[in-house]
Amino acid sequence: MKYRAIKGTKDILPDVSHQWQYVESIVHQTMQLFGYHEIRTPIFEQTGLFARSIGELTDIVSKEMYTFTDRSEESITLRPEGTAAVLRAYIQHSLGEHNSLVKMYYIGPMFRQERPQAGRLRQFHQFGAEVLGSSSPYLDVEMMLIPVTIYTTLGIESFSLYINSVGCSKCRPPYKELLKTELKKIYDQLSPDSQRRVEQNPLRVLDSKDESDRKLIANVPLLLNYLCNECSTHFEKVQSILNMLNIPYNIDGKLVRGLDYYTKTAFEITSTALGSQDALAGGGRYDGLVEELGGSSTPGVGFAAGIERLLMALEAIGNLRIESPSPQLYIVALDDEARQYAFKTAAELRSKGIAVELDYLERSIKAQMREANKLQSRFVLVVGSNELTSGKGLIKHMESGQEFSVDLNYIELPM
Ligand code: HAM
Repeated sequence: MKYRAIKGTKDILPDVSHQWQYVESIVHQTMQLFGYHEIRTPIFEQTGLFARSIGELTDIVSKEMYTFTDRSEESITLRPEGTAAVLRAYIQHSLGEHNSLVKMYYIGPMFRQERPQAGRLRQFHQFGAEVLGSSSPYLDVEMMLIPVTIYTTLGIESFSLYINSVGCSKCRPPYKELLKTELKKIYDQLSPDSQRRVEQNPLRVLDSKDESDRKLIANVPLLLNYLCNECSTHFEKVQSILNMLNIPYNIDGKLVRGLDYYTKTAFEITSTALGSQDALAGGGRYDGLVEELGGSSTPGVGFAAGIERLLMALEAIGNLRIESPSPQLYIVALDDEARQYAFKTAAELRSKGIAVELDYLERSIKAQMREANKLQSRFVLVVGSNELTSGKGLIKHMESGQEFSVDLNYIELPM
């Protein structure tokens, strides 16, 4: 029996993990620039938390969650996204009591049992941010600006920002009824998926991927034209802030996200460097969610972005050539005594912060040199009985070929 990674999951192997570390370091740096602090929540939560926040009728909750009963008969779910757990933690630890505005970010694995394909996995990774305690439209834009800044820092320029307003508990329900009435007129022609949604979740019909559905709904009324004053002023403000920052965007009145908690602003960032799974990031405002989860009424807004898709976009534009870390010094050892010396010296140098590599396979001098080259070590020191007797050795700078004499008991790298 040969075990394999579960379908839709991927090993991040040692030869590419440095790419992840690099992207993650840019995420950490950028979040810090914007004043966000990292939160790490468990990867599993009570199932009810997700059902309550993401919505029972969404695809995520109704068919994609990894849910199981644990040995205490409790229903547990591997988190399909980050927002619900972050809000649960915010409420549980009363984070809003100490600070009226709480800015948090996260990086980590999420789990959805979707049909795997390029850019769509069952365990995937997101970075994201949530900010709680303000209904300022500046923060809606900040949630777009953070991923945009990260993409730009990484050299990804081929992305588009789509924005919409999905209204609030005042203006959405009457619009929903109106939409339902309109959709019922074309019910028979809609795809089975959309037909199912007409009654329960008519807004989701708007982002149907079915070509024939799209034609049929081309002219249905859009919520944008039925927003209440508050929502429409908010949406205008978001646009004027984006204009001020010269961030290009498109208004897409049919953009409804696959999660039910949004109010007012919803957005997505897509990239032409990706295939059919072209969403790099998505987010929006969720002013009713903290209350829905048992906290006090608190506005909030956030975003999340897929890391696999970001790496795919980087690869597509040829920007994934990120150097993997290499040793500063490779100590080539010619015999047993030299191997002892190499091991001890490596430990000493490493404790001073110098990355050192050596041979553990008792290879020939030629093979060790080859290995040093392959690892792109900056310097190489060859140690045999002659060197150990004299206490002196030669350190070679691999790129220039220049050699420097060193005291074997006190090695200092020349540059
Ligand atoms: P989402 O749109 O479901 O939003 O996911 C955000 C991003 O995660 C997507 O744009 C995509 O890049 C990535 N992603 C989602 N599913 C997969 C998958 N199966 N395989 C690979 N990548 C995937 C949320 O998760 C919300 N929590 C965002 C948010 C935060 N809204 C407010 N705050």
